[in-house]
Amino acid sequence: MSTTGPTEQSQSANAQSGDYLLRCVGLHKWYGSVHALRNVDFNVRAGEVVGLVGDNGAGKSTLIKVLSGVHKQDKGDIFLEGRKVVIDRPRAAMQLGIETIYQYTAMIPEMSILRNIFIGRELRKAGPRGFGWLDRKRMASEAVASIAEVGLDLESPHRPVKELSGGQRQGVAIARAMHFQSKILILDEPTNHLSVKETNKVLDHVRTLSEQGVTCIFISHNLHHIHPISDRIVAMARGEKIADIHPDDTNIDDLNKMIS
Ligand SMILES: Nc1ncnc2c1ncn2[C@@H]1O[C@H](COP(=O)(O)OP(=O)(O)O)[C@@H](O)[C@H]1O
Ligand SMILES: [Mg+2]
Repeated sequence: MSTTGPTEQSQSANAQSGDYLLRCVGLHKWYGSVHALRNVDFNVRAGEVVGLVGDNGAGKSTLIKVLSGVHKQDKGDIFLEGRKVVIDRPRAAMQLGIETIYQYTAMIPEMSILRNIFIGRELRKAGPRGFGWLDRKRMASEAVASIAEVGLDLESPHRPVKELSGGQRQGVAIARAMHFQSKILILDEPTNHLSVKETNKVLDHVRTLSEQGVTCIFISHNLHHIHPISDRIVAMARGEKIADIHPDDTNIDDLNKMIS
């Protein structure tokens, strides 16, 4: 982690725009009279881990909800791999390869790790009357491989998710995103309410993903979590993007002053 460096903030990350995987131009979002996104330009390169920071109410989750199809922007455009896209439903985001993991990420606690990984996207094989039977064997072996890939140690893929810790559940969600080869993995405050040990585990998963070239947007109000794992840090305040900087060009104190 670098804590010293030039204090002047480099805006270089936005200088050229040719090679962005995701490009958001002039996004606005209103909730009634609340102007939650104000002309936000937000870009992500393939393979980057972008840390998105800001105080409560800054608009981070709203930006992510627009990208994940929970809310539609009122103005502005989104481009994925250079192509303009309409993300009007969560399913549209998933089909485009944008996977979002929330703090209380969607899982069915009574069901096994395996079933949770394949929820809604079960592998099937031909039954006696054609297509239809769940291919449990293949799902089990692929689940084991995906879990191992993110460095999770979960004994058996058949354990119910309710027996897992918060950090392990986040790990399963990350394994799920990896398995379906998401283009962009978004984690919105995944470490909230986790113990220090579990938080470190989740941060380790993100590091592993970034080494594997997965593109990540990691949101947290905890700069100590964001700073060491980010290739770039984007800061928001009152619905606006206020900084877009390389972590080496800033430090936690400066970032704290900027966003508060
Ligand atoms: N569903 C909603 N309805 C009305 N206002 C909302 C809604 N969601 C968020 N807001 C408001 O929009 C602003 C940005 O919120 P949010 O995007 O959740 O910020 P952050 O994730 O940075 O804490 C805040 O003023 C918040 O109160
Ligand atoms: Mg939020």
